[in-house]
Amino acid sequence: MTLENDFAISEIDSRIYGSFIEHLGRAVYGGIYEPDHPEADENGFRKDVSRLITDLQVPIVRYPGGNFVSGYNWEDGVGPRENRPRRLELAWRTIETNQFGTNEFVDWARSVGTKVMMAVNLGTRGIDEARNLLEYCNHPGGTYWSDLRKQHGYAQPHAIKTWCLGNEMDGPWQIGHKTADEYGRLALETAKVMKWVDPTIELVSCGSSNTAMATFPQYEATSLEHTYDAVDYVSLHQYYGNRSGDTANYLAYSMDLDHFIKTIKSTCDYIKAKKRSKKTINLSFDEWNVWFHSNESDKQIEPWSIAPPQLEDIYTFEDALLVGSMLITLLKHADRVKIACLAQLVNVIAPIMTVNGGGSWKQCIYYPYLHASIYGRGIALQPVIISDKYDSKDFSDVPYLDSVAVYNNEKEVVTVFAINRSLEESLLLECDIRSFPGYSVIEHIVLENENLKAVNSIDGENVKPHNNGQSAVKDGVLEAILPKHSWHVIRLGKQL
Ligand code: AHR
Repeated sequence: MTLENDFAISEIDSRIYGSFIEHLGRAVYGGIYEPDHPEADENGFRKDVSRLITDLQVPIVRYPGGNFVSGYNWEDGVGPRENRPRRLELAWRTIETNQFGTNEFVDWARSVGTKVMMAVNLGTRGIDEARNLLEYCNHPGGTYWSDLRKQHGYAQPHAIKTWCLGNEMDGPWQIGHKTADEYGRLALETAKVMKWVDPTIELVSCGSSNTAMATFPQYEATSLEHTYDAVDYVSLHQYYGNRSGDTANYLAYSMDLDHFIKTIKSTCDYIKAKKRSKKTINLSFDEWNVWFHSNESDKQIEPWSIAPPQLEDIYTFEDALLVGSMLITLLKHADRVKIACLAQLVNVIAPIMTVNGGGSWKQCIYYPYLHASIYGRGIALQPVIISDKYDSKDFSDVPYLDSVAVYNNEKEVVTVFAINRSLEESLLLECDIRSFPGYSVIEHIVLENENLKAVNSIDGENVKPHNNGQSAVKDGVLEAILPKHSWHVIRLGKQL
């Protein structure tokens, strides 16, 4: 591998380390909010969970959905709690009590030092609901909705900058599913009116729910023909799972992610060319993760229960490797991917798990996410990699070494994120860093486990990082041993 100071992909937008909280399962109720919990603060927010989130330095959290938003009446979730209605929640077939809503989420987000990415309902509702919610959140006062916010105890506007125009509108499972033309027209008109209410906001137009959709990527092209001038980002969503048990193939899924991102970049740029536009649409990868472990057990959930344990995937070590590889891929596209949300944050396909009334714990995917978020700030560098390769069921020429580097100019630190995909052999990484004279290894963190199916639980962490990685710099070359199937964070700096 060769790293060169001048091979900059882009400054990384820190929002690439965002996450997502949906009104789904125990993400809100029993996750971030549990007023009867011994660790709850005066707002009912679980302090143990907040600590784990704060450590992650999550810059932005998408809310309130997901599929949930397409049937949501935001007005149900504001004002005195005793007046809030219980509703049938059709996306996940539960009962929504509305005891937690927009203002609680804004309070919670502030308390954990993150920003809000708000989605509006373009399923059952539309322009009117969106402009009212925006007026409620962002208008200073003197109008019906902004004064209602004040009456609810919030004198200052919430100043929410990033807004999603609906969720996965291409999916037949979505409440109010729309064709690309139907969605594009509605999204454009909603965007136009929202920017009249608050011209400082940024808007995300829905793309496809995943690459397997029959309408992918025409949905993006057609809807963007409508929305191009009015929006700032298009959304991408993708979940993977090792359903067949073929780990070599599974660890190569980040190549599919790479292909997906390139396809959407090209689709946006095709519309740009068609419109003779000077504007570039960036990408908001606002749902990504592994999701498959809980698919079968979720079919047994009794309908119309309140906050049942839904989508509670228990992640294996190999999932953590894929999550690391997906993070590397997102960083390699830092020039266009400006927002990304690990879906989700607590209990629902999440790095953080809780027990109602009990403790909280870190899944193994917590660690690559933590490492990328805290050490992956700065300029993404394009590495030149020459690696042995393998073929798997769905992919050919899969490099054993997957890697990217981040240069933090201010701190004068280079961080190399790397994965050895080999299931059999360790790999000797030789990385030319001559353009970083005087740099040596500060720390080499490793996430490794003999057992690819090892998991963490409330009882303890079988998968947790150590910082005894083997690496050294000699004559401008970083040499590091990457044991079979392992994740690495090698931090290099100028030491006195
Ligand atoms: O994150 C879980 C679900 O996945 C979301 O509600 C939906 O947008 C996607 O299909």
